[in-house]
Amino acid sequence: MSLAAVPAQAPASSSGDVGAAGALGAAGAVGGVEAAGVAGAAGAPASGEAILRRQRVRESAARTYARSFPIVPVRAHGMTVEGADGRRYLDCLSGAGTLALGHNHPVVLEAIRRTLDSGAPLHLLDLATAEKDDFTSALFESLPADFAAGARIHFCGPAGTDAVEAALKLMQTATGRSGALAFTGAYHGMTAGALALTGNVAVKEPLPSGGEVVRLPYPYGYRCPFGVGGEAGADLAATYVERLLDDPSGGVVPPAAMILEAVQGEGGVVPAPDGWLREMRRITAERGIPLIVDEVQTGVGRTGAMWAVEHSGIVPDAMVLSKAIGGSLPLAVVVYREDYDGWRPGAHTGTFRGNTLAMAAGAATLRYVAAHGLAERAAVVGERMTARLRGLAAELPVIGDVRGRGLMLGVELVDPAAEPDACGARPADPGLARRVREACLARGLIVELGGRHDAVLRLLPPLTITDEQVAAVLDRLADAIAAAAALDSAAAASPVASPAAPAARGAE
Ligand SMILES: Cc1ncc(COP(=O)(O)O)c(C=O)c1O
Repeated sequence: MSLAAVPAQAPASSSGDVGAAGALGAAGAVGGVEAAGVAGAAGAPASGEAILRRQRVRESAARTYARSFPIVPVRAHGMTVEGADGRRYLDCLSGAGTLALGHNHPVVLEAIRRTLDSGAPLHLLDLATAEKDDFTSALFESLPADFAAGARIHFCGPAGTDAVEAALKLMQTATGRSGALAFTGAYHGMTAGALALTGNVAVKEPLPSGGEVVRLPYPYGYRCPFGVGGEAGADLAATYVERLLDDPSGGVVPPAAMILEAVQGEGGVVPAPDGWLREMRRITAERGIPLIVDEVQTGVGRTGAMWAVEHSGIVPDAMVLSKAIGGSLPLAVVVYREDYDGWRPGAHTGTFRGNTLAMAAGAATLRYVAAHGLAERAAVVGERMTARLRGLAAELPVIGDVRGRGLMLGVELVDPAAEPDACGARPADPGLARRVREACLARGLIVELGGRHDAVLRLLPPLTITDEQVAAVLDRLADAIAAAAALDSAAAASPVASPAAPAARGAE
């Protein structure tokens, strides 16, 4: 198998993206796009290099993925993305966990086409439509029954971060409290000041201002906040939360809500033990603190259950949902127990809350995942990938930890020459992680980094990944890690031969 990214014109090989490559080939014949160029604004071909150059000078310094992956995708199908340079990549980023069915799944395309052909309005604020009605039914059918019974849904601005804001405001309004409990390593979005800048008093008035966030320890077995690790570390994390909340001198003003991820994604793919989640539910319920579970990344089968809360069986007071629920188009909602619905009309409004196409694509995705048992398949495939990665860790000491749930997997890279801490964890090696990401890209594999030190390789393949693609992903990943690690140890042995200079995150 060639380890280089596969040129689009190459005949199908056994590299694992054969099926997708075939489909791409068909799409290519229809589109007639030459590997070397993509259509420019005026229809003239623009080379991928020119597009990348213009992006570098025209887009903001805050661009992120574009820095890690200097490619210009022109076509995609399933797990395979084809760049303007004709190379094909297996996409283990999946739009940061958005593409449950991969790129351009036929069921999603058909739902979009059907909606377009129907003449339905594409933008409708929050008016009632058949598409919204159907999406809401599909979503409620998919949610845990004891949560969905009597739940309410609010359609938010089309990003996870807006749904997080909505959930927090909902609970602030319901409880009359301002602060929130959140966890180390948590990622809930990027908006912060939008509401503070808003002048509409009617919207702001019900919200106590200046809410403080109390940061609590998340059970991270490998880098345990208590230096203990495993279940014992998770038990301590739960005990700490309970005692802190009950300590009259603990400094915690009763909060409006606790918010958590059942598996932290951006935090480095850290799954919380089910027992710890049940403890968080008990502790919050006993103290009248609403529990918000952020399933923006974990939802729609990603962790091996339709919703990650199903593993522990907890019933939250609110769930924040986005990414995969829109079937690759932007959509975000908060679903919550109806007794919290103390909002006034317009309490959380926004222009783009009625994306008809996203609702149609989302309903189709939710039903496809359920009908084809893709959550169950994610569990099985995830176990298999984890076992193989753990085997690899036994051979490559740069792999400090392999963890995850379903098809949300993380491989933490460490410096094998450094001293381990009390739990046996060595320091993270973000430089090596960047070199592995680069080596993956050169081998036709898109893998992004995450975690506290950006040293965790994150695997988020579509739930439709084939066995052949699993093998290809693992082969390419293993080869990339081994190659980058070998370069590092060669550099350590000889001060003259140095690996690629460790660029700052995102540096070009
Ligand atoms: C758990 C979680 N919550 C919220 C968000 C924010 O979503 P968005 O980027 O759509 O605003 C993300 C994004 O990665 C996420 O992973």
